[in-house]
Amino acid sequence: MCGIVGYTGSQQAKGILIDGLQHLEYRGYDSAGIAVFDGKDIEVVRRQGKVAELVAALGESDCTGTCGIGHTRWATHGAPSERNAHPHTSCSDNIAVVHNGIIENFNELREDLTLKGHTFSSDTDTEVVAHLVEDLYRGDLLQAVQEASSMLVGAYGIAVMCAEEPGKIVITRKDSPIVIGSDETGSYVASDIVAIVRATRDVVILEDNQFAVATPDGVTYFNRLGKPIEPEVTHVDWDIDVAERGGYPDFMLKEIHEQPRVVRDTLAGRMSGQEIVIDELSLTRQELNFVDRVYIIGCGTSYHAGLIAKNLIETWARIPTEVEVASEFRYRNPIITPTTLVVAVSQSGETADTLAAIRDARIRGAKVFGITNVIGSPVARESDGVIYTKANKEIAVASTKSFIGQVVSLTLMALMLGRVKGKLNLAQTRLLFAELADTAEQIEDILQNTEAIEEAARLFEGKSSAFYIGRDLASITCHEGALKMKEISYVHAEAYPAGEMKHGPIALIEQGFPVVAVATQSPTYDKTISNLEESKTRGAAIIAIATEGDTDIQKVADQVIYIPRVRDSFMPITASVPLQLLARAVAVNRGCDVDQPRNLAKSVTVE
Ligand code: AGP
Repeated sequence: MCGIVGYTGSQQAKGILIDGLQHLEYRGYDSAGIAVFDGKDIEVVRRQGKVAELVAALGESDCTGTCGIGHTRWATHGAPSERNAHPHTSCSDNIAVVHNGIIENFNELREDLTLKGHTFSSDTDTEVVAHLVEDLYRGDLLQAVQEASSMLVGAYGIAVMCAEEPGKIVITRKDSPIVIGSDETGSYVASDIVAIVRATRDVVILEDNQFAVATPDGVTYFNRLGKPIEPEVTHVDWDIDVAERGGYPDFMLKEIHEQPRVVRDTLAGRMSGQEIVIDELSLTRQELNFVDRVYIIGCGTSYHAGLIAKNLIETWARIPTEVEVASEFRYRNPIITPTTLVVAVSQSGETADTLAAIRDARIRGAKVFGITNVIGSPVARESDGVIYTKANKEIAVASTKSFIGQVVSLTLMALMLGRVKGKLNLAQTRLLFAELADTAEQIEDILQNTEAIEEAARLFEGKSSAFYIGRDLASITCHEGALKMKEISYVHAEAYPAGEMKHGPIALIEQGFPVVAVATQSPTYDKTISNLEESKTRGAAIIAIATEGDTDIQKVADQVIYIPRVRDSFMPITASVPLQLLARAVAVNRGCDVDQPRNLAKSVTVE
């Protein structure tokens, strides 16, 4: 969603801000802008559309100066437009603000400020912050921001500059990430490490209600009471190349190809002696043994990873497991007791719905375990224990490698629960672990042989809808495959348990209608084939993901995509890969922006 970047130092700010905004593009946005102090005034340039349009609008002489803030906006309050783009300025144009999040009480604040004579020029919630700071300003920007923030209700990451205090950026946050760092030229602020990691790998992850004052000489930090503090510095150790495409045409393809590495890294060190080790889990084996119900919460792809885990936990540990979309969980009255384990899954670790669900679960007395990809993210910090998925930074909006990291992590957890509950013996656990590790090599095989996937993508030419069908774990895998197709190719793709087709959806089948089937699972294979026949008879173009050596499937499928033989429990890991590649191939054929699909944001930080 929205992105913030800021710089103050000895360099020209414009190029640094634009570079930061370009690295934030992956989050999804609809307008962009920068504000730079030129030694006299704050100059603001904003554009609806991509950062490239902002760059085109910026003349050589525009926005010169060494202190500035920039923003990519994903519209919430007020349509995507130039006037609603950030930075927003106060009446005097002396205060400029960029903001991530939502100011919930902006209407009341706006009314009060209007009565005091302030004139608004946008429809956004953010603009009230600029006017509020202006209203409270008595010659000390930090103090004005502190007073203003005490009046704000909602979520915010804010960076503010003031023409009367050259070279200074004041920053604060609540429920919206902010990272801050410095190099030998000056100080940087961003809502995401990726925007500043080329300048510094040592960053401060600002906490809620803390304040920072960035100047060319460094950054000072204050707690909510205004007392100076020494914050913890986090070293970012991921490879800087993750923020570059590394020779691939898009980040999604690069990230799909990273998946064997993600499996290996996620499993490294997890089998010690003969036991599964998840030290990060804050519960003792005895406490885990008391767990009699598991709730898994997440959104989108993370929710799908949870659905797969439900199957594995119930199979191996025999613990009843519920999986809920986080935005639903928190508005129900879930049955949570002290022996319930809540597992929150979130790639970004900042999804607002998932965070709200975590807080709700903890208030109800549950232990919450987080599975996330982002070190120090709110999900990591607000959970009782956390597993990091080792996917490294994921840039493409469509989750691929983080999904594989989530499924592998949850599989480990299911194995461990199986051991703790005494349902899996050592030999079974070791065998399962070894087969899980083998999926890395199996994914490599799939990635080397993609011709059938390209062929299958051609069956989508001129089509606007598709079904994805399978049974049991294959059905869940289809949900993830269909989500990928929808997200990046804009083909309306619906996933159904194969047996459900005849109860309604089959009415939509007509000549050439694409039906993608995951038909690898042993106990339900024959039934899935029968369901495929039902669609085929009505004209469907069948694309089947099948096990190597299965020649029977060719009788019903128009195109077969073979994957290596794998235990049913691990099939979602391998079968998801051709589904990711299929979605991407269809999107590329349709000329879609694979990495930054329309209307979507990488991190959904609003509820
Ligand atoms: C996946 O391709 C999507 N971009 C989306 O569904 C995503 O999984 C969802 O928004 C949850 O995000 P999170 O894992 O960062 O919490």
